[in-house]
Amino acid sequence: MTHYAKVLGTGGYLPEEIRTNDDISKTVDTSDSWIYERTGIKSRRIAGANETASSMAEIAARQAINTAQISPDEIDLIIVATGTPDRVYPSTACLLQHRLGIKHCVAFDVQAACSGAIYGLSIADQYIKTGAVKNVLIVGSEICSRIVDWTDRGTCILFGDGAGAVLLGSSDEAGVLSTHVYSDGGYEDMLYCPNPQAATEANKHQVGTISMRGNEVFKVAVNTLERIVDETLEANNLEKTDVDWLVPHQANIRIIAATAKKLKMSMEQVIVTLEEQGNTSSASVLLALHEGITDGRIKRGQVVLLEAFGAGFTWGSALIKY
Ligand code: ACO
Repeated sequence: MTHYAKVLGTGGYLPEEIRTNDDISKTVDTSDSWIYERTGIKSRRIAGANETASSMAEIAARQAINTAQISPDEIDLIIVATGTPDRVYPSTACLLQHRLGIKHCVAFDVQAACSGAIYGLSIADQYIKTGAVKNVLIVGSEICSRIVDWTDRGTCILFGDGAGAVLLGSSDEAGVLSTHVYSDGGYEDMLYCPNPQAATEANKHQVGTISMRGNEVFKVAVNTLERIVDETLEANNLEKTDVDWLVPHQANIRIIAATAKKLKMSMEQVIVTLEEQGNTSSASVLLALHEGITDGRIKRGQVVLLEAFGAGFTWGSALIKY
């Protein structure tokens, strides 16, 4: 019997504080019009002083669990994708498991930067397909604002905080159709965030903030995402017109528009959240999926293409029949 990973429920959480482009232009040399034209971002959310990746993950997870109408005890596997974990260890997934009051399940983190949620979907799909588990909770939760250099106008304008969640359950009806994930560690210098506590003597003065060669990352991202879209359609013998919705990682509206164009999709078929959320790294795809489903745009039976690109480089896609 074929076991499909079916979307049972989704959840999302955005912290209260809104930081607009105008707010940022008070501290660095930039403007609302520059940021909006180059990125499509108007504002982003900033986590409160007492919030953590696991506290935000809990809110998004509980919503996904409620929508799925299952009990937390029925969850067999928890995967948290984050680049801003509460602690080096225990994993944020273990902390989330405890917050949810779950005793006996597997819980671990995935670190794949902005592609973390797609990696999580891919791992969950393998576990469910083999029949090893029934229900998997995947959460992307990020406090990017704490690893951003707020004096660097090339990066501080891009990122935001939030958490997105999806609950996948084993079903004999089609769900996840295929996932495609890749990494190439050769691009470390283009986009990275050091861990000062693990520094060597030579780089002990580094600080734990994001460094990015934005323009170069942009070009690789566009080309790579175009390739992964082709691969995903070919693997499923589908035409571009068979895809109902594109749910992309929310890094830059120009990257998103290039992928939509490649798919010959109008922007009406793309879920875009970055205007008010910025790039929430591993949370962004799940927040966008949640928004598209809860506002009724994405309907049961429709074909949804999720994709992401991030530091590593890492990239991937997931084709889902919702
Ligand atoms: N305001 C005003 N001017 C700025 C700003 C700013 N916020 N930032 C850069 N500039 C200036 C630069 O200094 C440069 O000036 P110069 O021409 O005098 O040297 C000029 O604008 C052009 O800079 P570029 O970097 O070429 O601008 P670009 O059009 O590429 O936009 C951006 C920059 C928005 C960062 C874009 O490159 C981008 O979105 N890159 C991709 C980001 C991404 O997808 N990352 C992957 C996911 S993130 C993750 O995995 C953690």
